[in-house]
Amino acid sequence: MEYYQLQNGMQLPKIGFGTYKLTGTNGARAITTAINNGYRLIDSAYNYENEGALGVALQNADIARSQLTITSKLPGRYYHRDQAITAIQESLYRSRLDYFDLYLLHWPNPKRDQYVEAWQALLDAQKFGLVRAVGVCNFLPEHLDRLQQATGVLPQINQIELHPYFNQAPQRAYDEQHQILTQAWSPLGRASVMLQDPVLNQIADKYKVSVAQIILRWDLQLGVLPIPKAIHSSRQLTNLDVFSFTLTPDDMERINQLSKPDGRTHQQDPASYEEF
Ligand SMILES: NC(=O)c1ccc[n+]([C@@H]2O[C@H](COP(=O)([O-])OP(=O)(O)OC[C@H]3O[C@@H](n4cnc5c(N)ncnc54)[C@H](OP(=O)(O)O)[C@@H]3O)[C@@H](O)[C@H]2O)c1
Repeated sequence: MEYYQLQNGMQLPKIGFGTYKLTGTNGARAITTAINNGYRLIDSAYNYENEGALGVALQNADIARSQLTITSKLPGRYYHRDQAITAIQESLYRSRLDYFDLYLLHWPNPKRDQYVEAWQALLDAQKFGLVRAVGVCNFLPEHLDRLQQATGVLPQINQIELHPYFNQAPQRAYDEQHQILTQAWSPLGRASVMLQDPVLNQIADKYKVSVAQIILRWDLQLGVLPIPKAIHSSRQLTNLDVFSFTLTPDDMERINQLSKPDGRTHQQDPASYEEF
């Protein structure tokens, strides 16, 4: 495994494991398998309703807590400063953990205008030792600028929808300029038609790997941390196996050219989409 380094010195594995829809016994089993298959960063969320499965999975996995980077996320309904800390404590109890490595605001929900308050609560949680590093998801430059103006502290991470059909070049440039690590959610486009794209398939044939491996390798070469989800052990393993080949600049550019302005999988534009 290779690592990215956050501004606060924390090392993050370059690939993480997504857990959306991994709930209950089957979900817990898939997460344990992922850890035993080599994943060291696990991405969860209060709203995935799987922090319980995460806790069971961690207990059953054959690894020390200190070797893992565990993420959860605060839902918009708990953005009041006095509710946020309790919500994080509840996340911890469900996950059977003493601390999270990363805790993120899940959506900016700008019409509600509470994300600055929620950000202050995450900074409190960090001071209290509930979380090691704090970040956001789905934040646009205007939201990040506002956090900086209001608190003087920018997130360490911005987790955004990012895949070849929506490559987020402007947001990535902003994040890089502000030393914010970009994480890619739905890196495989939720296994949509993108995986049948002829250009991606041509490139996969050339390197004798799968389309998923080409996409995840492209993420790494962009300096992005992808968190693919896979219930199948064989997919978990191949998705991690992307450190032994390098895409040429020409192939990187061919993939960059696939991006489309309306390429989001579910048209969830953070300027207007809300989630609580
Ligand atoms: N912050 C946010 O707002 C936000 C939003 C969405 C997601 N996320 C996070 O990002 C994670 C990843 O995104 P996602 O789950 O939406 O989608 P994704 O990782 O892009 O795609 C998951 C789908 O791809 C399939 N898959 C995995 N590996 C494959 C392979 N090698 N070949 C073919 N298909 C493969 C999976 O199948 P099987 O599972 O059947 O193996 C599953 O159906 C989530 O799980 C969640 O942790 C965050």
